[in-house]
Amino acid sequence: MDKAAEEIFEQLEHYFMGEASEPYSDKALTLAYEPINVGEIENPDTSGYVKGSCGDEMTIFLKVQNGKIYDAKFLTDGCGATLACGSTVTELAKGKTIWEAKKIYPQSIVNYLGGLPVSHLHCAFLAVRALRKALDNLNSREEINNVSYSF
Ligand code: FES
Repeated sequence: MDKAAEEIFEQLEHYFMGEASEPYSDKALTLAYEPINVGEIENPDTSGYVKGSCGDEMTIFLKVQNGKIYDAKFLTDGCGATLACGSTVTELAKGKTIWEAKKIYPQSIVNYLGGLPVSHLHCAFLAVRALRKALDNLNSREEINNVSYSF
């Protein structure tokens, strides 16, 4: 392998081994060790379950009133980054309308956490997919129709 190819290979390795080149932010570490919004909501208005490509699972439970999410919790068997992402996505969803919650993206989680190692970006995708599933499963059209949107 020539020197240029070796350098490229090394850069790619660092990229995919995000943990080595990108440390966790303080916020991500805090939420990994002391996650918030963990648990199951009794009689949720909706919930969403997904299994990630890594095999980790997440379920999100939501309570919705007048078209707004007023409580959100999650359960996961995933890693610390998944706990941080579940904490974040539920925190971001609280107080939002269903419409607004559908605009929470993996990047929203990364921004909130102040970064996430590349090797754990998929944890943010898992959390957003679980939220979207919960929103898609929300059957009460009444909840949605009661919202007045301002653009
Ligand atoms: Fe699988 Fe985090 S390692 S979702």
